[in-house]
Amino acid sequence: MMREELVAAVPLRTQVGIVGAGPAGLLLSHLLHLAGIDSVVLESRTRAEIEATLRAGVLEQGTVDLLRECGLGDRLMREGFVHQGIELLFDGSRHRVDLEALTGGRAITIYPQHEVIRDLVKARLEASGHLLFEVRNVEVLDFNMAHPRLRYELKGRSQELACEYVAGCDGFHGVCRPSVPAAARTEYSRNYPFGWFGILVRAAPYSQELVYAHHERGFSLVSTRSTTVQRLYLQCDPADRAEDWPDGRVWAELDQRLSTRDGWTLARGEIFQKAVIAMRSFVVEPMSYGTLHLAGDAAHIVPPTGAKGLNLAVADVHLLAAALAERYTTGKNDALHRYSATALERVWAAEHFSWWMTAMLHRFWDDDPFGRRMQLAQLRRVIGSTALQTALAEQYVGAPLPGRAGDQNASPLRQRYRTLVDRADSHADSL
Ligand code: FAD
Ligand code: DHB
Repeated sequence: MMREELVAAVPLRTQVGIVGAGPAGLLLSHLLHLAGIDSVVLESRTRAEIEATLRAGVLEQGTVDLLRECGLGDRLMREGFVHQGIELLFDGSRHRVDLEALTGGRAITIYPQHEVIRDLVKARLEASGHLLFEVRNVEVLDFNMAHPRLRYELKGRSQELACEYVAGCDGFHGVCRPSVPAAARTEYSRNYPFGWFGILVRAAPYSQELVYAHHERGFSLVSTRSTTVQRLYLQCDPADRAEDWPDGRVWAELDQRLSTRDGWTLARGEIFQKAVIAMRSFVVEPMSYGTLHLAGDAAHIVPPTGAKGLNLAVADVHLLAAALAERYTTGKNDALHRYSATALERVWAAEHFSWWMTAMLHRFWDDDPFGRRMQLAQLRRVIGSTALQTALAEQYVGAPLPGRAGDQNASPLRQRYRTLVDRADSHADSL
């Protein structure tokens, strides 16, 4: 196809214009498709870039259940690793928290975010979904009215997309949230005086389950990616660059921070990826402004200690897709009007959990011996109390998504959305 024709084929109108092809934008587009609702996704990066960005690794049970139910579970079930517990390491000993036993059979799955992205992009393209990469200068217009528009540039040409709704799924640094006048939004935030230094190592798994380690020298985390690649994180100075962490320094720190009385050590392997990650808590209220609805990191950020960011993005778009499905099937706006308040309940619970885990496990540069004693007392209480361990486990595996497996309070709305998805599934099966 000629370049001119490609540009001419760009859609001019849609029901839901989605900005950002991260987990939030792509999954929303997929769920809307299953509910028979048209959408267009505008993404500033290339397909190769979004499919190669290394980020999260932990999927909550509800995220896994939803991805499976909407036809995205094949590779996830084949290649993901189910973990029934996590470990807390402090004072030289490892202590297991049995997630499965404490939550009535729920667990987490290790499956990297970029693999979720690959599965979603494939599903959208196979369904002939409109996914426009390398768009520039997106502007969100008229979202305080019934007919919002997205103006953008593609291959040097200015384009406009007429929408009925806009979903701002463009992450923390996107354009959707800042398009809302500052006076109309309230932002809550906390920056932490440290970051995480994340590495990928070629080595066999160091542990059967994730290890969250508290140490005088700072926090560290042992995670995994496969039988041959491991993921490790170390608390660091937020201003550090990868060059500040030569391999020798990385291993020396890990050896100290992960040392145990029974002599656990990490076998060396080739470190082939290094990056520093900022730590921030952030929430904007509300998440809806007229016909613009924010979802995922565009609306909230958590420090990574609770592994909640991707899962919250999934929970947001699950709610938003159900609300839009109600709007398009019944004409009623009630669920859309409730979207922000309902989503924020889960968001604030995850904010609290992530802040609590961060505060319990990290070294605060200005903390005093009293602060360290408080952290150790908290860790010992968690390990010594089934009630506290259960609270940690429930939050770590995540509450069931409304209307799906495990939810006791599925409302008729949620059941209706479920029915729409089931209908779309059986339609797909019969093709
Ligand atoms: P993003 O993934 O940020 O996607 C936004 C998309 O919008 C991007 O593709 C971006 O290119 C695009 N975009 C931005 N601006 C524009 C624009 N102006 N126009 C068009 N497109 C635009 N979460 C977990 O749940 N579990 C974990 O284990 C976990 N670990 C993490 C580890 C690391 C190292 C990091 C960095 C994060 C981790 N997270 C984790 C958080 C998780 O990765 C994010 O919360 C998640 O990516 C949010 O998805 P999103 O779709 O909302 O935003
Ligand atoms: C991973 C990331 C997290 O933020 C976390 O809490 C646990 C694991 C990971 O990337 O594997």
